[in-house]
Amino acid sequence: MDLTHRPRRLRQDRVRGLVSETSLEPSDLIAPVFVDATTDERLPIESMPGHERVPVEESVTRVEEVLETGVEAVMLFGIPESKDAEGTRAWADDGVIQEAARQITAETDAYVITDVCLCEYTDHGHCGPLEEELRGEDGHEHGEGCAHEPTLTVDNDAALESLDRIAVSHAEAGADMIAPSGMMDGMVAAIREGLDREGFERVPIMSYAAKYESAFYGPFRDAADGAPSFGDRRHYQMDPANAREAMREVRLDAEQGADVLMVKPALPYLDIISEIRREFDHPVAAYNVSGEYAMLHAAAEKGWLDLEAAALESLLSIKRAGADLILTYFAEDVAEELTGGQ
Ligand code: PBG
Repeated sequence: MDLTHRPRRLRQDRVRGLVSETSLEPSDLIAPVFVDATTDERLPIESMPGHERVPVEESVTRVEEVLETGVEAVMLFGIPESKDAEGTRAWADDGVIQEAARQITAETDAYVITDVCLCEYTDHGHCGPLEEELRGEDGHEHGEGCAHEPTLTVDNDAALESLDRIAVSHAEAGADMIAPSGMMDGMVAAIREGLDREGFERVPIMSYAAKYESAFYGPFRDAADGAPSFGDRRHYQMDPANAREAMREVRLDAEQGADVLMVKPALPYLDIISEIRREFDHPVAAYNVSGEYAMLHAAAEKGWLDLEAAALESLLSIKRAGADLILTYFAEDVAEELTGGQ
């Protein structure tokens, strides 16, 4: 038998590491941190085992815990003390993220990235202020001989003004990087302009460039109280059926000055990650979202899979697809595993 080619030769223990194509390091990971202005104690998030909402006073302690695992970057999400139609608490100087970012950057070396969106701050839970859509998609005017009322939709251009304010207020509070997640057209340009105008030209933008209207966000919406009170987000987040459109979205954000391009969710969209990797020189980020975390935990709880191994394989796959950095709820656990708990 002539078996010249035996790939198994390179799968022996002492050579596997040498020929490994992909590596995963704690420094590739970003840990999400939830800061909650409505509580004065740490509250476990039921659908995301191991994660908590922490009060502002505990945010430094929480971030120190992350740093101890070897993870160097955090993404801050805020739950404000009150909500209104415009989401005004999102850009308040004494808002939850502003206070937390100020304390964390003053007291730790963590690289602080802030989520810039309105859905946690509006009482209707959408990612911008609402306007009435006066015409139907076929152009007819609502109210005149048509049975239904005008429908409400997010006012894209009004949202941009708010996003500019939020980003500037985060940068003033010390945020190292700004991450807009609302999928508004023109959001990167609006934020870049705002940051530059106020002297923050050195603060990078990591844009959620291809963010899908996904069923995998369920646990996060519990965690951050951000479920829309009516309708859904399919008029601004992307259709899971579309890949070419993702490239168009990403190109627009790159043209507007995005420094890092993010895909969200991660595992169901590995094809999108690898295509962006091929087409662009920018660093590519992937958001391994709450549902991707919760489903592994749920299966492991039933004894159906090994949580540590499944988590590690998931993150490795996301890197292999082409992501340079990964935002993941597994960050701390996996970092500890990678460094052998030191
Ligand atoms: C929206 C936002 C979402 C997530 C973070 N910020 C999605 C949404 O509710 O539309 C989800 C993250 C996750 O599921 O882990 N600003």
